[in-house]
Amino acid sequence: MNSTDIFLYLLLSFSFLVLVLHLLRTTNRRKLHLPPGNLGLPFLGETLQLISAYKTENPEPFIDDRVSKYGTVFTTHVFGEPTVFSADPDINRFILQNEGRLFESSYPGSISNLLGRHSLLLMRGNLHKRMHSLTMSFANSSIIRDHLLVDIDRLVRLNMEGWTGRVLLMEEAKKITFQLTVKQLMSFDPCEWTENLMKEYMLVIEGFFTVPLPIFSTTYRRAIQARGKVAEALGLVVRARRRERKNDMLAALLDEEGGLSDEEIVDFMVALLVAGYETTSTIMTLAVKFLTETPPALAQLKDEHDEILAKKGEVETLQWDDYKSMNFTQCVVNETLRVANIISGVFRRAMRDVSIKGYTIPKGWKVFASLRAVHMDHDHFKDARTFNPWRWQANSGSNSCNTVNVFTPFGGGPRRCPGAELARVELSVFLHHLVTQFSWVPAEQDKLVFFPTTRTQKRYPIIVQRRSEFKCSSTL
Ligand SMILES: *[C@@H]1O[C@H](CO)[C@@H](O)[C@H](O)[C@H]1NC(C)=O
Ligand SMILES: *[C@@H]1O[C@H](CO)[C@@H](O)[C@H](O)[C@H]1NC(C)=O
Ligand SMILES: *[C@@H]1O[C@H](CO)[C@@H](O)[C@H](O)[C@H]1NC(C)=O
Repeated sequence: MNSTDIFLYLLLSFSFLVLVLHLLRTTNRRKLHLPPGNLGLPFLGETLQLISAYKTENPEPFIDDRVSKYGTVFTTHVFGEPTVFSADPDINRFILQNEGRLFESSYPGSISNLLGRHSLLLMRGNLHKRMHSLTMSFANSSIIRDHLLVDIDRLVRLNMEGWTGRVLLMEEAKKITFQLTVKQLMSFDPCEWTENLMKEYMLVIEGFFTVPLPIFSTTYRRAIQARGKVAEALGLVVRARRRERKNDMLAALLDEEGGLSDEEIVDFMVALLVAGYETTSTIMTLAVKFLTETPPALAQLKDEHDEILAKKGEVETLQWDDYKSMNFTQCVVNETLRVANIISGVFRRAMRDVSIKGYTIPKGWKVFASLRAVHMDHDHFKDARTFNPWRWQANSGSNSCNTVNVFTPFGGGPRRCPGAELARVELSVFLHHLVTQFSWVPAEQDKLVFFPTTRTQKRYPIIVQRRSEFKCSSTL
């Protein structure tokens, strides 16, 4: 045979194999009442379609097309596995609430290597329950009010002191949230040590951006090395702190009943740093982007904060009552969370055959509960794809009557993000100081992308001007 023959022969056998696989799948599906859908090409499935959709500014068509063809639950094949995809708020809720009974969290190996086996994301069962509530008890509203708010206020100001001219907002926001998380975890104020830790940390985070083929990626290898350095640095802190007590989250980890090993504590902290800093800094950046593109919202926000500032007089530090009086800010916060969808959904694995709404999700199958798809659904949010903070004002009529099930930016059930309230407070304080101290314009066009995570392509560069300077020059 010459090479063309071999090629044809291979092509034919391959097509035959695809056909057989396809038939097998269709018969299986009928037997099991799988949700409708298309599994795409063998091995690759629909991964490429998903990724290319999410790399654009508008990822919705991937979901929209399938929802209009099959309904809000469908099967697809992404990241190497057949996956049931849910854009249905009831099913999402069911999945989140049945954590540990019918579904368990399930993430690819590349992610667990970076986070460490003992991170909250990968923990299960009783240990997860204990550590989740420990985390909650360091980030609940009374702790924020009595202890954390003062640091948040101080560190946000400290960072903004140096802002002049062109500012990469995403970088600055990352610095702020990193310092805040380190402070809460282990009581360190910003210093050379925390700066160095942050540099290594950024490399670890980049590793998350290399799915789906991490093995071939230098970024991923560098991330794994950086993770080693981060773990080493934190390990030193943990050992030192076994001798010297303080009152922070690390102290609570050291005191945890049953005793955690150094490795367990370090893994836990590595993961919490990721959670505390990457997501919150992104949401800060996007809030500013959305506000900049919606001038009436920015104007109303400025008014609210100027008023708070005017009332404060001599008392400089923001108090809990100030936070509580930021009514319009809370609308902006919710709307940013809804539109940005930093965590677009959660992956779970069915622990047994699960029947829901007439379909079966077979044991062992991946499930993706898309929080984003619900937030972007016109049935639940009028004009869902527009940034409209006023929809959150009482009686605006722009939301469905019950947002409890359809608005879930922090997930739900036993794995609901324990830092939800903290993230809201950090964003609100950040916005307060930003709008009272600065005016700004975007330095260049920047685009939102959704893969591998939600962020802007250029880290949102802006040109800032102090408002006091601005006032002087405009009265001249
Ligand atoms: C917050 O956690 C602390 C323990 O750290 C607890 O004493 C307090 O009751 C909790 N507050 C709320 C509002 O849950
Ligand atoms: C904010 O809303 C609360 C209740 O919704 C209200 O009591 C309060 O007066 C409002 N604050 C401002 C400053 O408008
Ligand atoms: C924002 O969303 C939360 C649910 O996460 C809700 O409890 C709160 O009332 C919303 N805020 C406003 C101003 O609607």
